[in-house]
Amino acid sequence: MNFPMTRMRRLRKSPEIRDITRETKLNKEDLIQPLFIKEGLKNGKKEPIKSMPDEYRYSIDDGVLFGKKLGEEGLKSVIVFGTPMESTKDDLGSPAYDKNGVVQKTIKKLKEETNLVVISDVCLCQYSKSGHCGIVNEDEVLNDETLEYLSKIAISHAEAGVDIVAPSDMMDGRVLAIREGLDGVGFEDVLIMSYSVKYASSFYHPFRDAVSSTPSFGDRKTYQMDPSNLREAIREAELDLLEGADILMVKPALAYLDVIKSLKDSFNLPMAAYNVSGEYSMLKAGIEKGYLTEDVIMETLMAIKRAGADLIISHFTKDVLNEL
Ligand code: PBG
Ligand code: ZN
Repeated sequence: MNFPMTRMRRLRKSPEIRDITRETKLNKEDLIQPLFIKEGLKNGKKEPIKSMPDEYRYSIDDGVLFGKKLGEEGLKSVIVFGTPMESTKDDLGSPAYDKNGVVQKTIKKLKEETNLVVISDVCLCQYSKSGHCGIVNEDEVLNDETLEYLSKIAISHAEAGVDIVAPSDMMDGRVLAIREGLDGVGFEDVLIMSYSVKYASSFYHPFRDAVSSTPSFGDRKTYQMDPSNLREAIREAELDLLEGADILMVKPALAYLDVIKSLKDSFNLPMAAYNVSGEYSMLKAGIEKGYLTEDVIMETLMAIKRAGADLIISHFTKDVLNEL
């Protein structure tokens, strides 16, 4: 049947009709709020992040309070990023697997004081002098040598009570190394959410400022993916699945909606997408300047969900939770 019997606008007639016929719905439990925790910060002195309007670095106590408050608004999960004291960084990233490290302490307190699902970013870049995601020899980022350190980090987070570890380093074989490491010491129940498809993206720029993890030399292109590639993304995801990942992730999200869609069509695992710092800051800047309105936030999150993401890590979580 064609026009005039068929009229698409009937489905758009009123807010109520649009509400009941909407194909994609965003729920509070879809969203994950990143938490930036900085070692040594005084309570009550959250630090604004210059390149990320309305995002802050928190002390452990204040970060936990912030998580708790969002939990009361219906948030289900957070992902923790740590910034250790600059003076403790070394070549082997040891503050990353210190029992009393900033992330380990935060995880413990979050689990004690909230009902949130706690996810931790597992990587070396914020903790090593080189600022690279792996162990470095001269100007090379070593793959196999890095795996045991990633496994140590994941175990230290599990000992602190983390629910899900999320390796973001892009070394080959890290999901298997972490799974074996965790299982070897009795943490079979800790999930792995793998940053399976992580592109070497300029959209991470504000994040590196937020956690001081800019590489001291070179770039991350020998381990993060080339933005031109989609078939390679499917291979990455397939390997992570075979190595034991529980949840797959695509990162960034916005310029990679086709990748999210392809992975969703190819795999039956829960799919996460990371709406990264640069995607956040560009919209915030546009809103601040008056070029855009706040509505772009919901439109953006909805687009990521429509592309196939079951979970969305987003700095906008805190801004939209109350509207869901
Ligand atoms: C570090 C890491 C990065 C992000 C998450 N974990 C940055 C990078 O790889 O340079 C990006 C997060 C964001 O931009 O919001 N492995
Ligand atoms: Zn890293």
